[in-house]
Amino acid sequence: MPGPHDIRQLPADRESLASLIALHHLCLPSRLYATPQQQAAFLDEVLDALAGRESLVLASFADASPVAYKIAYRTGNRHETLYSWLGGVHPSHRGRGHARALLLCQHQLASAMGVTQVETHVWGDNTAMLVLNLRQGFHVAGTVAGPDKPGVRVILRKSLVAPTLPR
Ligand SMILES: CC(C)(COP(=O)(O)OP(=O)(O)OC[C@H]1O[C@@H](n2cnc3c(N)ncnc32)[C@H](O)[C@@H]1OP(=O)(O)O)[C@@H](O)C(=O)NCCC(=O)NCCS
Repeated sequence: MPGPHDIRQLPADRESLASLIALHHLCLPSRLYATPQQQAAFLDEVLDALAGRESLVLASFADASPVAYKIAYRTGNRHETLYSWLGGVHPSHRGRGHARALLLCQHQLASAMGVTQVETHVWGDNTAMLVLNLRQGFHVAGTVAGPDKPGVRVILRKSLVAPTLPR
């Protein structure tokens, strides 16, 4: 695992995901005012989405508690893609390298799984997440209109394999 961060891979079970989804609601301004019922429904949605899929759930811990997380699953016709779905760092722990360390760890483990690319979708106004990803080798592959709010989500992809032909 890169850096001094305490990064752990967690099972995609209700107990682990409940703590990470609680953290998710503290990380995203849009989630801060979700009711307990909405939070519970989102946990069920995440559990449903990961059920039957090969997933990669990572968290970075400080003082025995998760302060950052990254939730991904394998997809694609040939199972070649890791879709990095949810991620964030608790506001009090930002700027300490948790997000970069989690990203690097995710890519290391994804390579070991045999995945050849990572894809993630980021809202166009989410500067921190865009810069984090672009500085770690993602490129813009397109945009999609968001279903739930105005604006676009930027499709970012990063190849995990070295190019074999000159460009
Ligand atoms: C994006 C986010 C994960 C960054 O977390 P972090 O722990 O502060 O990031 P790190 O300390 O690991 O920073 C790594 C790099 O990311 C980039 N970065 C982080 N915050 C940034 C900001 N506010 N503006 C621009 N770039 C930023 C920088 O390149 C930084 O490297 P540098 O410090 O050498 O310049 C955090 O701001 C966050 O949780 N945002 C809300 C969650 C979210 O939007 N999730 C997406 C939807 S699921």
